[in-house]
Amino acid sequence: MSEIQKVDLNWSKLSFTYIRTDKRFLAHWKNGYWEKGTLTEDNKLHIDEGACALHYGQQCFEGLKAFTTKDGRVVLFRPLENAKRMQRSANALLMVAVPDDMFLEACEQVVRANLKWIPPYGHGASFYLRPFLIGVGENLGVRPAPEYLFSVFGSPVGPYFKGGLQPVKFSVSEYDRAAPNGTGSVKVGGNYAASLHAHDQAVKAGYADCIYLDPSTHKNIEEVGAANFFGITKDNVFVTPKSNSILPSITKYSLMHIAEHYLKMKVEERDVPVDKIDQFVEAGACGTAAVITPIGGIFHNGKLHTFYGDGKEVGPVSRKLYDTLTGMQTGVVEAPKGWIHEVK
Ligand code: PLP
Ligand code: COI
Repeated sequence: MSEIQKVDLNWSKLSFTYIRTDKRFLAHWKNGYWEKGTLTEDNKLHIDEGACALHYGQQCFEGLKAFTTKDGRVVLFRPLENAKRMQRSANALLMVAVPDDMFLEACEQVVRANLKWIPPYGHGASFYLRPFLIGVGENLGVRPAPEYLFSVFGSPVGPYFKGGLQPVKFSVSEYDRAAPNGTGSVKVGGNYAASLHAHDQAVKAGYADCIYLDPSTHKNIEEVGAANFFGITKDNVFVTPKSNSILPSITKYSLMHIAEHYLKMKVEERDVPVDKIDQFVEAGACGTAAVITPIGGIFHNGKLHTFYGDGKEVGPVSRKLYDTLTGMQTGVVEAPKGWIHEVK
């Protein structure tokens, strides 16, 4: 796969923006069955005007990445975890779920059909896959859709937050992205629509994004924009929030494993009170798109709290976590069994 003629892109300068690639996967569920699905060059969808996805937000999505390894293979990172999470999202909105093998096959097909768009090894870029499932079919009332569309497209991407592994500042939002017993733990579009205003406010005030507190008490840190939070204490403990209104991040659970088994750290998943952030010497945002983005500072209640190196440097633990995770994804660090899925 390494000998493929790549498109002419400045791989190391990519940001997290849509680039139209050659082919995407599309399959329709109707009358009780998933059709086999096809690859198409058309990047527009033709759907019913009454589609439940359009009116009642009956849709969910995923995000995962394909990487070129040092020895030229193309691999997916823990794709079955995304398949499972999409099934949980689908179930939460009474949608017809996509089976594991169909999810995986669709991702593989999109990778194989777009090999020339997959960033080569060594540029810090990857190929972001966006599987999504939407409720379609003729409909008017509020009810689950009569038909579903499952699609996967991909785009070469660089860092989500400017600069990649560089500390950025976040501000704590007064808004909630999800309700205490709502849809925060599944990946549905409504959560993201609800986050746009808070995100906009944070960016206009000069921050990279906002941090959400728990929607019940507004005391504990939950999410960092579209990523999970972690902090490293003075005693070298990896701490990350536990709550049923945050998205169970595949990156976060991978980092917990890396911290415990590779870096021999203690790991805690628990409440993270925002008024006790001075317990952390380092903090970070983690996710597929964000990878690990060091948090330089958090603005809350009129004060900026800074982390490692006055908020200007990458802490040593964050760097080790980043190197180990990205090393696994690019085949230079041995990953736990089952984490790396080669697309052949
Ligand atoms: N939290 C939110 C709200 C997200 O959108 C994402 C991105 O998927 C994450 C966390 C990180 O999850 P993952 O590591 O599975 O990409
Ligand atoms: C991801 O990290 O995959 C995300 O979904 C984040 C975002 C672009 C919504």
